[in-house]
Parts: sequence; C-alpha cells; structure tokens
Amino acid sequence: KRAIIIDTDPGQDDAVAILAALGAPELDVLGITAVAGNVPLALTQRNARIICEWAGRPEVPVFAGAASPLLRPLVTAEHVHGKTGMDGVPLHEPTMPLQPQHAVDFIVHTLRSRPVGSVTLCALGPLTNLALALRLAPDIAPRIKEIVLMGGSYFEGGNITPAAEFNIYVDPHAADVVLRCGAPIVMMPLDVTHKARTSAERIGWLRALPNRAGNLAADTMTTLERYDVQRYGEFGAPLHDPTVIAYLLQPALFSGRQVNVAVELAGELTLGATVIDWWGVSGRAANVHYMTEVDADGFFRLLANCLAQLP
Ligand code: BDR
Ligand code: CA
Repeated sequence: KRAIIIDTDPGQDDAVAILAALGAPELDVLGITAVAGNVPLALTQRNARIICEWAGRPEVPVFAGAASPLLRPLVTAEHVHGKTGMDGVPLHEPTMPLQPQHAVDFIVHTLRSRPVGSVTLCALGPLTNLALALRLAPDIAPRIKEIVLMGGSYFEGGNITPAAEFNIYVDPHAADVVLRCGAPIVMMPLDVTHKARTSAERIGWLRALPNRAGNLAADTMTTLERYDVQRYGEFGAPLHDPTVIAYLLQPALFSGRQVNVAVELAGELTLGATVIDWWGVSGRAANVHYMTEVDADGFFRLLANCLAQLP
C-alpha cells in the first residue's frame, strides 16, 4: 500500500478526493491535516472529520494546522463552497476527535519516523502546512517520496484573480517554499482540472452506486455545478482535487511535462501566478511534473470504483 498524508481545506472537491482516497484499497491514509483555505480552519478540520465518518473511517487521525497563510491575510471561497465549505450535503456534528497534535508536527514526525522515500504528501489546499513543516524541519525534504498537489494554472488563467489559481494565490509564499524544496513534485493545475468536468452522465455513475458515499459525492458535484454553470457555462464543474488521488492510483490517465515552475510573489496584478519555463530559458532546473491532459471518462470511472468500496 502507498502511504499518504492528505493536506486539505474541505471544500466540496476536497471531500470527493478524501472519499476516493479512503475507498482506494491501494492507499494507506496515515492522517489528514487541515489547513485554512476554502473556509476558515475551524470548519475545514471539522469537515475533514465529517468526511471520515461518512467513509466509516473514524480511526483516521485528523489534525488542525495553520489558521492563516504565512504572510498574507486569509482569502476564502464561500462563493464556491458555501458558508460551511460543504453546502448542499447534510452535515452532522462529528463525534470522532480532533487530534491534539499540530498538523505540522504530525507531518514532520511521520516523515522522520517512516522509511526514507515511503510517504507521499497530497496537497489539496493552500500550501501553508507543508511550507511550515519544510521550514521547521528541512531534513524531511529528502525523505518525501513525492508531493502531488492541486494548484497553479498557465493556459487557463486564474480562478480567483485573472492571473492566479486559488490554492497558490491564498498562500503564494508557502507555494514558493514547497516548489523550491527539492522533493519530486507533481502538479495538477487548472490546465488539467478544467478538462475533468462533471456531466449528467458522469455524475450519474456516482449516483448509481448503491451506497451513501456515491450519493454524497454526486450531491457535492451537483452543488459545484450550480456555481460553476454561472461561471464556465454549460460544460459542468471542474473536479479539481480528486485528480491528485486519481494520479496516485492511475498515473497513465494524465500526461504533462517536466518543467521549472516558479510563483510570482511581487506582481500587483499577477501575485500567485505560476510561471512555467516551457523552453528552459531561465536556466532553473525542472522541479515539477506539470500535468495538462487527462482521460476524463477514465478519471470519473476510477472515482466511481473507489467510492464503490465505501459504506
Ligand atoms: C482549488 O481551490 C479550491 O476552491 C478547490 O478545493 C481546489 O483545491 C481549485 O482552484
Ligand atoms: Ca481544495
């Protein structure tokens, strides 16, 4: 089994990603670390616990991490995910506990105590927790098997400003730390997630599952569509974060290029933009496998297979 830590700000599409990971028999979810992003930390850590209970997995430890970005004030996305972060599905009061340990300490401790190259970090929100862990304990960088993250954009432009994707924009300084850390990084930017869109047929595959998880995932996608139809038109809602989990399970669904990615930290209009060196003109070494293509039907089928394993 592949050991992973999921760092996340649930979040509708985060919820589908976490459910898929908990359903996948190939993955061992060591813990879930919450970060402020789509909604404040008090809600993201609570939503993470609700999702574990939906999956029938209350033993998965959930940790709270950073409540705000490294340097900037927190920007949230209630306009997409609703006031709770997961509007559109009935939310209960979780009974599983929040772990007392800080998320950053859990990340550091896990990487130090497990064999070198055995733990993958999956980042589905702003990169604050990962950056703090790398700054607190630089020795963990060479111990990371791979960082697979949803964030960034090039061809598709931005979804929170004209230039920047939400996860990178919320904490660009953290993204900069992570992109320079030296560990292998796979990036799922808007350039690929905008090709992984819902449709009535694809939501139908999840709705048709005979369990609760399939229906919850279908509900969250329907909620996302309500918002995204106003923005992107008739073509359905991009399902961003689950691409990270799908990549771990079936990398051949995706293709991209090994390139250097840097984050704009100074631009007035372009703060948080991801700058891609397609032609090697910067002299900076490639640090990211940057994805641009996905087999969308294959992706949604894989999600349905994972969710089918849950209650
Ligand atoms: C990212 O922003 C969040 O709103 C989503 O959960 C996803 O992680 C997409 O830009
Ligand atoms: Ca997210």
